[in-house]
Amino acid sequence: MEKREATMSSWSPERNQSPRGLDPHFSRTLFLLLLIVAPLAQGVTPDPEACQVFQSDNGSSINCHPPAKVPQYFPADTIYLSVEFFNLTQLPPDTLQGIPNLQELHLSSNGLESLSANFLLPVPQLKVLDLTHNALTRLPPGLFWGSAALHTLVLKENQLEVLETLWLHGLKALRHLDLSGNHLRTLPPGLLANFTDLRILDLGNNQLETLPPDLLRGPVKLERLHLEGNRLRVLEEGLLVPQPNLRYLFLNDNQLTMVAASAFRGLKQLDMLDLSNNSLTSVPKGLWTSLGQPGAARDMKDGFDISGNPWICDQNLDDLYQWLVDNKDKMFFRNNTCCTEPTAMKGQTLLAAAMSHVKPTAGVEMGGNSLAEHCTPLGN
Ligand SMILES: *[C@@H]1O[C@H](CO)[C@@H](O)[C@H](O)[C@H]1NC(C)=O
Ligand SMILES: *[C@@H]1O[C@H](CO)[C@@H](O)[C@H](O)[C@H]1NC(C)=O
Ligand SMILES: *[C@@H]1O[C@H](CO)[C@@H](O)[C@H](O)[C@H]1NC(C)=O
Ligand SMILES: *[C@@H]1O[C@H](CO)[C@@H](O)[C@H](O)[C@H]1NC(C)=O
Ligand SMILES: *[C@@H]1O[C@H](CO)[C@@H](O)[C@H](O)[C@H]1NC(C)=O
Repeated sequence: MEKREATMSSWSPERNQSPRGLDPHFSRTLFLLLLIVAPLAQGVTPDPEACQVFQSDNGSSINCHPPAKVPQYFPADTIYLSVEFFNLTQLPPDTLQGIPNLQELHLSSNGLESLSANFLLPVPQLKVLDLTHNALTRLPPGLFWGSAALHTLVLKENQLEVLETLWLHGLKALRHLDLSGNHLRTLPPGLLANFTDLRILDLGNNQLETLPPDLLRGPVKLERLHLEGNRLRVLEEGLLVPQPNLRYLFLNDNQLTMVAASAFRGLKQLDMLDLSNNSLTSVPKGLWTSLGQPGAARDMKDGFDISGNPWICDQNLDDLYQWLVDNKDKMFFRNNTCCTEPTAMKGQTLLAAAMSHVKPTAGVEMGGNSLAEHCTPLGN
């Protein structure tokens, strides 16, 4: 015992200097932190009212969170700035003056009520602007006139009730637009017409009842589309047709009663579809078979969810039944995907109905009867 300890300390001198026996991982982390922070701190004890500064070859990154005080000026080489969780309501219009290389600006959770039209003019290289969880009701027209490089704009959880096309003028490189968690009721025509590079569009958790038919005619390279948590009643024929790259489609938590037969026709790469918690009783013939690549095995590799709809399990679903049986491995929440009518089928799962309808023998393999026993509609 003693012999071993002696050996240890002889080739591990630090051990004697850490009497409280720091966990080796912890001390290594601490060491790395010290390496990063020490040259900046210049021997001064960290000030809780100071923002954190990290320097790299590319410039300075600044993180300010309470209780730090937001400085009046930032280093001229600032490339990344995060000022979050303050209750600022307004920012001085010249906040970004003197930091022309800024690439990322994070201003979430500040209670910002408005921005001035010139706010972003000093930072033409800005790529990411995060305004999550503020109190913006509008944006000043012209805000983005100097923001041709901006590719990510997050306006999640603000108080927007409307959006005007003019507010987004100047954006040319937009790839990710997040407008979720606002109070949007309608969107103007042409809103996204110029955003041909858009990959991710999040309109989730608003109050949209309809969408302009041309909404997605500009952004035809979408990969992810969030429309969940709105009040959509109908998915129209043309909306999604030019979306050959769309992989994730969220339509859950709406009031859909109708999906047009050709609504999914353009979706050749879809990996995930969520239609759960809507008011669908049936779907038109051909809807499902139009998904994916013609001839190839239907992919939908990350699954699909059609639970929480009041399915009427009659012959109108023949087409869906066949597709379900072929794709049952990718089905989420089978036990919450229930028949509500006709009476004889009430309480059965849609999959059990499909199995017994399509291939009477398949029910035996799958235990079709036991599936029926566990049908629990969502929200009941
Ligand atoms: C510096 O910028 C280059 C090019 O944008 C990037 O590839 C690199 O990761 C950056 N380095 C650091 C330390 O941030
Ligand atoms: C911001 O306001 C909230 C609620 O009024 C309060 O709890 C929080 O401490 C405030 N934060 C700052 C940094 O003043
Ligand atoms: C699209 O961009 C052009 C040229 O910048 C502009 O004139 C037009 O108003 C923009 N349209 C929309 C709907 O934003
Ligand atoms: C269904 O969607 C509505 C509307 O978005 C939502 O309020 C409700 O919580 C959802 N129900 C379930 C069980 O997810
Ligand atoms: C769904 O039902 C099946 C068959 O009755 C049962 O084995 C399974 O545990 C249920 N799954 C859930 C998540 O309740």
